[in-house]
Amino acid sequence: MTAKETSQQLWKEAQQHLVGGVSSPVRSFSAVRGTPPFVQRAEGPYLHSEDGVVYVDFINSFGPLILGHAPPAVVDAIQKAAALGTSFAAPHRGELTLAQEVKRRIPRIDKIRFVNSGTEAVQSAVRLARGCTGRDLLVKFQGCYHGHVDSLLVEAGSGLATFGVASSAGVTEGVAKDTIVLPLDDDEVLNQVFKEHGEKIAALIVEPLPANNGLLVQRPEFLALMRNLCDAWGALLIFDEVITGLRVKEGSIGNALGIQPDLYTLGKVIGGGLPVGAYGGPAKWMDHLSPLGPVYQAGTLSGNPLALAAGIASLKELERCNGHDRLEELGQLLETALWPVLEKSEHPYQLVRHGSIFWLAYGPGAAPRRADRIHEGASIVFRDLHYQMLERGWMLAPSAYEVGFLSLSHTPELIERFASDLAISLAEVRPLEPTV
Ligand SMILES: Cc1ncc(COP(=O)(O)O)c(C=O)c1O
Repeated sequence: MTAKETSQQLWKEAQQHLVGGVSSPVRSFSAVRGTPPFVQRAEGPYLHSEDGVVYVDFINSFGPLILGHAPPAVVDAIQKAAALGTSFAAPHRGELTLAQEVKRRIPRIDKIRFVNSGTEAVQSAVRLARGCTGRDLLVKFQGCYHGHVDSLLVEAGSGLATFGVASSAGVTEGVAKDTIVLPLDDDEVLNQVFKEHGEKIAALIVEPLPANNGLLVQRPEFLALMRNLCDAWGALLIFDEVITGLRVKEGSIGNALGIQPDLYTLGKVIGGGLPVGAYGGPAKWMDHLSPLGPVYQAGTLSGNPLALAAGIASLKELERCNGHDRLEELGQLLETALWPVLEKSEHPYQLVRHGSIFWLAYGPGAAPRRADRIHEGASIVFRDLHYQMLERGWMLAPSAYEVGFLSLSHTPELIERFASDLAISLAEVRPLEPTV
């Protein structure tokens, strides 16, 4: 492997100009060793660094790149769209097409509003839910991430089922107190909170497959309970499927489980690697939005023709090449290749997978379903494992709590090689001292 001096030099310079050297915190490698390689270009499964090092990428931009980097169909669509104008601030066909493509895959959605990020989608959906119900309270779960929306940068207060406290400086007490934060996988606390506050709850928001604190697969009965309680108390159920929406074969986790929310929030895959978010649901809710209704939400670049062209091309390509089935095959191959390695290792790792989303869960026993059950040693061991894998040319997300994403550009050969390098890397990592 060549020296990484160029990246190190650029990293030093970046500190002068960008806060922490990055445009988004997790990229700073603060939870792992070393400095982040600067990316010069990316193609298929590969990231090419400024140092001339090639990495196999399992981050895939944290989810959007389901086809891999720079797929020709998407690049071509963006180029063609750019030649026709980069922003119209007026209605255009791309909006209709992407809306139809999304609706076909998630029939619960009658109407959709495009925005520019997942955060914006969530923020707007929460406002809409409050506007529709005339209520203030929001229920969320510990371990779910919904973007950097003020009312969702909130963590549990003292005791279960109490009002939240800000988890970021700059979020006011007033905002935080309108959010109740609950543990995942706890029916009793969920029932209790609706019993106490049901009449004031505007919405309950959840990632139905929480994928931001590892991959915390939920019991379908727990999600069904959310649906029942929202129905019983007149609150809106929001499924935040920014990661899972259109990444999973069934279109959404809501579709897969036959549990439909009132509102979906989407992003990532629907933008094919360009900045897009969206929220949608039945017209009876969506028509509360301006210009039809009293809930205001707008955007200079919303429905951007380049971003939507990328999303449309990506979804069409995925369908054309039977992408979801191929991703499932790759996922199964990942399991076949990784499990023997994990079982032989001294470290108590296990693989949690749903389709093309995977997580190396650290700790003995059953894989956790809630954030506070993730082993406290996870981040310590992962720091070294990440470094070892990076040295061997594998780009894993720089945090023990981030999932990995398979893309259609990953090949069976790469997965086999990944497994054998993982075996070597695990052997290089010192096991945690047992705590007494
Ligand atoms: C479930 C979920 N919701 C919302 C967001 C925020 O999306 P964005 O980063 O596009 O603002 C994310 C981002 O990772 C996410 O995973």
